Amino acid sequence: MPPIRRVAINTGGGDAPGLNAVIRAAVLSCLNRGWEVYGIRKGYEGLYEQDGVIRLDRNAVRGITHLGGTILGTTNRGNPVEWPITLPDGTQTTIDRSPEILKKFGEWGLDVLIAIGGDGSLRIAHHLAKQGLSVVGVPKTIDNDLAATQVTFGFHTAVQTATEAIDKLHSTAESHERVMVVELMGRHTGWIALFAGLSGTADVILIPEIPYSMAAVCRKIEERYAPGGPRFSIVVVAEGAKPVEGDAVLREEGAPGVNARYGGIAEQVAAVIGERTGCETRSLVLGHLQRGGQPTAYDRLLGLRFGAAAVDLIARGHTDCMVGLNPPDIQAVPLEEAVADIKRVPIDGDVVLTARSMGISFGDDGA
Ligand code: F6P
Repeated sequence: MPPIRRVAINTGGGDAPGLNAVIRAAVLSCLNRGWEVYGIRKGYEGLYEQDGVIRLDRNAVRGITHLGGTILGTTNRGNPVEWPITLPDGTQTTIDRSPEILKKFGEWGLDVLIAIGGDGSLRIAHHLAKQGLSVVGVPKTIDNDLAATQVTFGFHTAVQTATEAIDKLHSTAESHERVMVVELMGRHTGWIALFAGLSGTADVILIPEIPYSMAAVCRKIEERYAPGGPRFSIVVVAEGAKPVEGDAVLREEGAPGVNARYGGIAEQVAAVIGERTGCETRSLVLGHLQRGGQPTAYDRLLGLRFGAAAVDLIARGHTDCMVGLNPPDIQAVPLEEAVADIKRVPIDGDVVLTARSMGISFGDDGA
């Protein structure tokens, strides 16, 4: 492999607390090896824009470890390898813009890319690696649904934020003797809902991995309203949770290069609980609060470790791979393996079993 002179970094997909920590560690680790670093703004979009590729020196990454978001900007729209276009006859199709991306990398003299992203961004990175670009990925998502790493940075912060929100719902639920149904992020997996629901003492937790029945959910609520019971309930529902017979609730269907938008399940669940149990019920969606704010110390540390480890892999000549946490070590994982499948909550794992043994209902017959 020719010597490294210039390293590019980008952040793709939804933001996650800890991104700036990765950027700082990666930039300093590169600079300390004598390499130049360039940040590409908003995924790959910066490659086509004026001032979209920015030099990252020590000043650019000073004082950013504790900041949420990403100094490079990000996007979860417009996948460059499935770029939507309209043909002259009006037909919609997609094209692969990776040859253009490789050309831009050549023009900028960029030798290798550190791609920080979730499953979609890492899939793009793997595709680019197959076209000949040197790429090392860093796994990111608050959803914690990436395989080949025990945990992604951003997850811990999101769980903390969601737990604090659930804590706050308790006093108002109890004062009004209401059922509060809170919707948390997690399109395909229930990691945030499970961890925050258990830490925040929810009574019912609904996650995509365990299809629920409203009969079981209402049974649990009615038990709590029985004479002598606590007369309020907290229901935590992951946005991608599904009933036994039915589908997840979408706000917007997906399109080429654009993910489907989930949302609305809490409102539906709350309406049915209200109707069937007669309990006064309210719902809320915690939404992007879970992605915002300062990363916890855990997420900062994981981000810093991932950033430095990515540079170490580059120095050792690795490409088409990702850093992953396999405690106590950070290891290189082939991107192909990392994006082959998502990591779902193990339904017989100890966290689910802990919740069940405490009487928390998952809306199935297992509780
Ligand atoms: O992938 C992370 C995630 O937080 C999902 O849980 C959520 O569905 C999605 O991003 C929302 O993304 P946005 O509203 O930014 O398109």
